[in-house]
Amino acid sequence: MSIEIITTGDGSHSLLNTALNETYHSRHGAVQESLHVFIQEGLDRFLASGATTVAVLEIGFGTGLNALLTAQHTEEKGVTVHYTSLETAPLPEDLWVQLNYTTTPAAQTLFHAIHQAPWNQSVAVRPTFQLQKLTVSLQDATLPTAQTDVIYFDAFAPNKQPEMWTYDMLAKAVQTLRPGGMFVTYCAKGQLKRDLKALGLTVETLPGPPGKKEMVRGVRSV
Ligand SMILES: C[S@@+](CC[C@H](N)C(=O)[O-])C[C@H]1O[C@@H](n2cnc3c(N)ncnc32)[C@H](O)[C@@H]1O
Repeated sequence: MSIEIITTGDGSHSLLNTALNETYHSRHGAVQESLHVFIQEGLDRFLASGATTVAVLEIGFGTGLNALLTAQHTEEKGVTVHYTSLETAPLPEDLWVQLNYTTTPAAQTLFHAIHQAPWNQSVAVRPTFQLQKLTVSLQDATLPTAQTDVIYFDAFAPNKQPEMWTYDMLAKAVQTLRPGGMFVTYCAKGQLKRDLKALGLTVETLPGPPGKKEMVRGVRSV
């Protein structure tokens, strides 16, 4: 794997896939982007309904940053999470262990537990954080219908990995949503928005994280 650690604008690490010349997060700030797009505009928005349990489906486990932030955020709120994440290229330990996403021993223990959880099993990483990391592509995955509350669609960008953003792949993700469920992504391309609308979602273009103008949220009607 040709992957290098980079430092983004907010001081947090990301990874550069040198073969694709594509980073795993915004160069303006990895943690900043994850908090804004996935936690604030996805998870928190869903939890505003008063839910105490949430099922998350992530496309692209990557560094585990979204998983870590979700586990931390929900633990504070006393919310139970069922977190499923797809990944075709799990990172080796010597790489993820260097990432600077934790500042306390407790957070480091959690981050390590998330990474060390066995693949292709459902594991209670914490009493309120059930994690299922699957080494399968979105293309090959068999996904349940109408069981997800929030989709973190965090694939590499459409110009780098167009096969992730086709109508059929979006449909495959969207059909997992329960009524009231949400699809969030950092991408705000017109074709994506048109496809999500065609798939029956109510689509909003929202302000993006610092350095990125827009992001997208699609909600399945109740
Ligand atoms: C933008 S990064 C994800 C960042 C990640 N969510 C995080 O918090 O670090 C995209 C990820 O998608 C993975 N990926 C590539 N092709 C995939 C596929 N066909 N299905 C699922 N994941 C894929 C890549 O290996 C990479 O880890």
